[in-house]
Amino acid sequence: MEQKRWWKESVVYQVYPRSFNDSNGDGIGDIPGIIEKLDYLKELGIDVIWLSPVYDSPNDDNGYDIRNYREIMDEFGTMEDWKKMTEEIHRRGMKLVMDLVVNHSSDEHPWFVESRSSRENPYRDYYIWRPARADGSAPNNWASAFSGPAWEFDEKTGEYYLHIFSKKQPDLNWENEQVRNEVYDMMTWWLDQGVDGFRMDVINFISKEPELPDAANPDNMPVVFGGEHFMNGPRIHEFMHEMHERVLKGRDVMTVGEMPGVDEKEAIRYTSPDRQELDMVFQFEHVDLDSGPGGKWDLRPFSMPALRDNLVKWQKALEKEGWNSLYLNNHDQPRMVSRFGNDSGRHRVRSAKMLAVLLHMMRGTPYVYQGEELGMTNVRFHSIESYQDIETRNMYAEMRNEGVPHEQLMEQIYVKGRDNARTPMQWNAEKHAGFTDGEPWLAVNPNFEEINAQSAVADPNSVYHFYRRLIHLRHTHDVIVYGSFDVLLEDHPDVFAYERVLDGERLTVYCSFSDQEAAVPAEAGEVLIRNYSDTLRDGNQLTLRPYEAVVFLEQN
Ligand code: NOJ
Repeated sequence: MEQKRWWKESVVYQVYPRSFNDSNGDGIGDIPGIIEKLDYLKELGIDVIWLSPVYDSPNDDNGYDIRNYREIMDEFGTMEDWKKMTEEIHRRGMKLVMDLVVNHSSDEHPWFVESRSSRENPYRDYYIWRPARADGSAPNNWASAFSGPAWEFDEKTGEYYLHIFSKKQPDLNWENEQVRNEVYDMMTWWLDQGVDGFRMDVINFISKEPELPDAANPDNMPVVFGGEHFMNGPRIHEFMHEMHERVLKGRDVMTVGEMPGVDEKEAIRYTSPDRQELDMVFQFEHVDLDSGPGGKWDLRPFSMPALRDNLVKWQKALEKEGWNSLYLNNHDQPRMVSRFGNDSGRHRVRSAKMLAVLLHMMRGTPYVYQGEELGMTNVRFHSIESYQDIETRNMYAEMRNEGVPHEQLMEQIYVKGRDNARTPMQWNAEKHAGFTDGEPWLAVNPNFEEINAQSAVADPNSVYHFYRRLIHLRHTHDVIVYGSFDVLLEDHPDVFAYERVLDGERLTVYCSFSDQEAAVPAEAGEVLIRNYSDTLRDGNQLTLRPYEAVVFLEQN
């Protein structure tokens, strides 16, 4: 009998605080702003809030570079504000998951300030320092995920330090037991303040191969991403289990590890309850399908059958052991309706609802990223100065340097840039979408007059109300949470269909990705939810209209 757990029955909502709601007019979202919107989230029906980092940070990477793990960022408020928010979340029966960013810290963290001060400093070994190679070049050929080399030379002590992300995000040395102890103490401290779990940033990067070997480089590039030497590295399961033993054991919390480069076999190792590591992971395969060998900016067309094959593989692999997290977008990914649906006027609402059905009827814990419930879309700013994201800006500068034309780079940014997801939340049709009374840190998407929470809440046919219904269904139908999963019509070019079965109940789910009609064999049962006002079911045939989604429930 499968173990019932609250986090399997929950829907998580991700808040990206900088862009959520500004209460004091400085143009930056903040914690009091989140408190103002808790009733909105409760009404939506969500169970858990995952808060992207709110810790003290110089904001080289919007808070994913932490200067003090036990303080709140000034722009976001105070520890008092945080405590009030946590209390208000709990008072409404919701839970709070904090972001844990411990693959790296900020270079302004006192540990790193000490570490770089001398080779003998007791904190030296908290980070990964190496001498130059004989010719003075960096210790290996790894690239930073944010362009350029992953090593920075530090004049003062004449060595290089490793930074897989920006040079203001030095990697912590998890081989050092003291570092691990510091992290475990800090996690325990937050749990004692009442947090209900952690989302762990690139947590499968923390165990590096100790020799830090060069990455394979068949194309002879100046630098290459060395993931093969630190993703799911040699001691990762030992560290995850140790963290469980030392921090999580005996506490009723949820954990989700963000894990680029994880496959389903590794995911089972991370999430099998017997192994006592994590509850679930964020895998990346399905959001990498539209990238070529050159990485995320190497654009490839979206293919529904490829998405289906991948999601079905994950559904089946983790059906009996482990647990899936379900997401189609977050603060690092383009908006799902622009990427997998159709954000042109006519089809936006319909396709946003279709994608929501696809995700929310699957087995796993669904994650809703702020604004997804409104069908918010990607954005197109014309000048690079309008973009704030470090990854986007670094890529642009590097490629311009190599002579790639501005227009081509902007096209890539329109498709994949992280600021697509980070434009301020659209609350109403007033100035700056009601996000701030001041000047927003990142401009609002100009479509806010049409797409905003106030009009969505007032419209019973909105994407917002559709999400409310989907979330309610998960809370009232065990088959959605615990049912088995099987794909249907597995060769159909446009329709993603599957069934879920539990104790004599059978759900069949149809999602059309086409802007044309498609006819498929009909299934029995009552309509549980749909994104059209009727269903074209005639004898054995079901006709699906553009981006139609329909779910049938059959009781035996
Ligand atoms: C993954 C986070 O989601 C992303 O926003 C961040 O830039 C990197 N990890 C580095 O922390």
